[in-house]
Amino acid sequence: PEMDPVNTTIVTLTRFLTEEQVKHTEATGDFTLLCHALQFSFKSIAYYIRRATLVNLTGLAGSSNTTGDDQKKLDVISNDLFIEAMRSSGKCSLLVSEEEENVIFFKDSQHARYAVACDPIDGSSNLDAGVSVGTIFAVHKLAEGSTGTLGDILKPGTELVAAGFTMYGASTQLVLTMSGGSVNGFTLDIGLGEFILTHPDMRLPRQRAIYSVNEGNSLYWEDNVNAYFNSLKEAQEDGKPYSARYIGSMVADAYRTLLYGGVFAYPADKKNPKGKLRILYECAPMAMVFENAGGQAVDSKMRRMMEVVPENIHDKSGIFMGSYDEIEKIKSFHK
Ligand code: AHG
Ligand code: MN
Ligand code: MN
Ligand code: MN
Repeated sequence: PEMDPVNTTIVTLTRFLTEEQVKHTEATGDFTLLCHALQFSFKSIAYYIRRATLVNLTGLAGSSNTTGDDQKKLDVISNDLFIEAMRSSGKCSLLVSEEEENVIFFKDSQHARYAVACDPIDGSSNLDAGVSVGTIFAVHKLAEGSTGTLGDILKPGTELVAAGFTMYGASTQLVLTMSGGSVNGFTLDIGLGEFILTHPDMRLPRQRAIYSVNEGNSLYWEDNVNAYFNSLKEAQEDGKPYSARYIGSMVADAYRTLLYGGVFAYPADKKNPKGKLRILYECAPMAMVFENAGGQAVDSKMRRMMEVVPENIHDKSGIFMGSYDEIEKIKSFHK
């Protein structure tokens, strides 16, 4: 039998970034170096997650974070790995993390031009069960002349220069998008130790009958939210109701939604009037990915998620994101 030819023109993340950089004549290479530090943090977080049960890294750290979550050991370790990667890159001026109460200013990175927000482990309640979790990141550029202030990160998603996430699932998937660009997906090849471009120009289907929401909260939902989700359980045009899929790791639910279409939601409700998910490192970066892939993302007031400006670094919001037509339908239930 003929041997399958080996692909010798692989596009690694490094190659992809280099090729992107030459397209932008004004680029200094700093963003590329920042991305190298980001990808190293993803590889190391992936490594420790995969070994967690073998090296006593399951369970709680015994502390909680600013937004009230109990921290898992891996929340703390991944946060430390991420911070160190950003510090050592020399390209990150300041960092906001879910696991840090305050902004971290990297005083030694004097010429750094970027501000980063991160959720080191998204879905950490799923960690000990070996269910997919992820890391979310959002990259802003410092204002002209700024040496790095709070104002450089308290910005809406429309100002982001790049955003994305890595999902640690059966394989490690990196999804990256840049301002005005497309969405590209990479798979970590463990043998090569490289992220390989496997999903170029990701586009969400315009419609798909799948909804993803923690329905256990429906008791607290506003009436229009209940009306919308109840409508999905009725026979649609094809005579069938929607399917429900909820992993409880936004990164994993979002990744599936990107590939298959449908809607992921974490609405604000009577118990959490400001929602659960946090704007800077959960809602805004996901909204950018979804919009750049042809979908939409809105908050519970049906405002474009990308335009929501947080007042404080850990501010929360309700969110609905997914296929273009599905978000239109949700808007119609809120009129
Ligand atoms: P994190 O693990 O970073 O604190 O985020 C948890 C979030 C998100 O991953 C997920 O969509 C949601 O919380 C799940 O919440 P419920 O358990 O309330 O459904
Ligand atoms: Mn948490
Ligand atoms: Mn999260
Ligand atoms: Mn987290």
